[in-house]
Amino acid sequence: MITRGITKTDYDTIVAVLDRWWGGPSGERAHPVFFYELGEHALIAEEDGVLVGFLLGFISDGSPRTGYVHLVGIHPEHRRRSVGKLLYLQFAERAKAAGAERIKAITAVGNEGSDHFHRALGFTCVEEPSYAGEGRARLVFTRDL
Ligand SMILES: CC(C)(COP(=O)(O)OP(=O)(O)OC[C@H]1O[C@@H](n2cnc3c(N)ncnc32)[C@H](O)[C@@H]1OP(=O)(O)O)[C@@H](O)C(=O)NCCC(=O)NCCS
Repeated sequence: MITRGITKTDYDTIVAVLDRWWGGPSGERAHPVFFYELGEHALIAEEDGVLVGFLLGFISDGSPRTGYVHLVGIHPEHRRRSVGKLLYLQFAERAKAAGAERIKAITAVGNEGSDHFHRALGFTCVEEPSYAGEGRARLVFTRDL
């Protein structure tokens, strides 16, 4: 398996498979801004030429400087084989090299797979009741680099 930066062909593939990988309408999650404007640190995992996972993340200039993972998705037939872990480790390395002091991600309350995954990778988890607006709670994960 290899990881590498994203290309337009990869982006087109992700948009085409997203609904299937998430089990429902999800196309908007991969908004073009995460490729065209923020795609410099986005990563792809590939096995024998097949795209098996992706991580749409970027470095935010806030204080502290943060590597933010907007969206990670692993091919359903390749889950629990450390593809997600590999993508996060690569992203964390790149974020650190770019001066980030922590990495961060959020997920919907009730996404148990994502919750377990982030905790397994050493993230601290806080449930923020109004994170995405009044009554719109999110799990907020952070890990120092
Ligand atoms: C969540 C997701 C990214 C995990 O990717 P993955 O490649 O399967 O995860 P890994 O194999 O690297 O898992 C690393 C560890 O995380 C934990 N973990 C991962 N998925 C888990 C799950 N569904 N349930 C419980 N623990 C889980 C385990 O401890 C695992 O180690 P182990 O397999 O040795 O026990 C993947 O299931 C996915 O794409 N889900 C749908 C999209 C999504 O919810 N994305 C996150 C929000 S943007």
